[in-house]
Amino acid sequence: MIGTLTNLLKEHERALVQLTFLNDAASRIYQQGYSFEDMNVISHSVDYISLDFLCHCENEEREIYQGLGNFLPEASLQEFRDEHKKITQFLETLRELMSGVSKSFSGDSKALELRLKASELTHIFSRHIKRENDSFYLMASHILPEGNLKQIFRNWKLK
Ligand SMILES: [Fe+2]
Ligand SMILES: [Fe+2]
Repeated sequence: MIGTLTNLLKEHERALVQLTFLNDAASRIYQQGYSFEDMNVISHSVDYISLDFLCHCENEEREIYQGLGNFLPEASLQEFRDEHKKITQFLETLRELMSGVSKSFSGDSKALELRLKASELTHIFSRHIKRENDSFYLMASHILPEGNLKQIFRNWKLK
């Protein structure tokens, strides 16, 4: 069980790394001006989080949140589901903002919006992951049967 959970937690770690790349690149574009390199970093990070991590969230809701449903109030699980939706909306907004950033010098207003949204996403997402690590994953390790967790991880890898 420890090994399985360790792998699930690594999904979180990889997302946090992408958030750092995203945030740093968005800050550089605002402070130093447009660069293709930094826009590629942002694009790659947004794609990574959208494709891989949102799939992680779907699995998490279906497998882990449901598994904890008998032990936790629905309101606390719903709060986490709502955060998944909020994160999805943030990613869509970031895509829209990316296309609006002008190839100008530092201080572009759209670049500022991009930077602020990237920072806000990082804050919400990091807090979400930390709370999951410290509560849901810990609880799951005690509640879910060994076979259930192994199946979760197999499904995860197949996607
Ligand atoms: Fe989550
Ligand atoms: Fe998660």
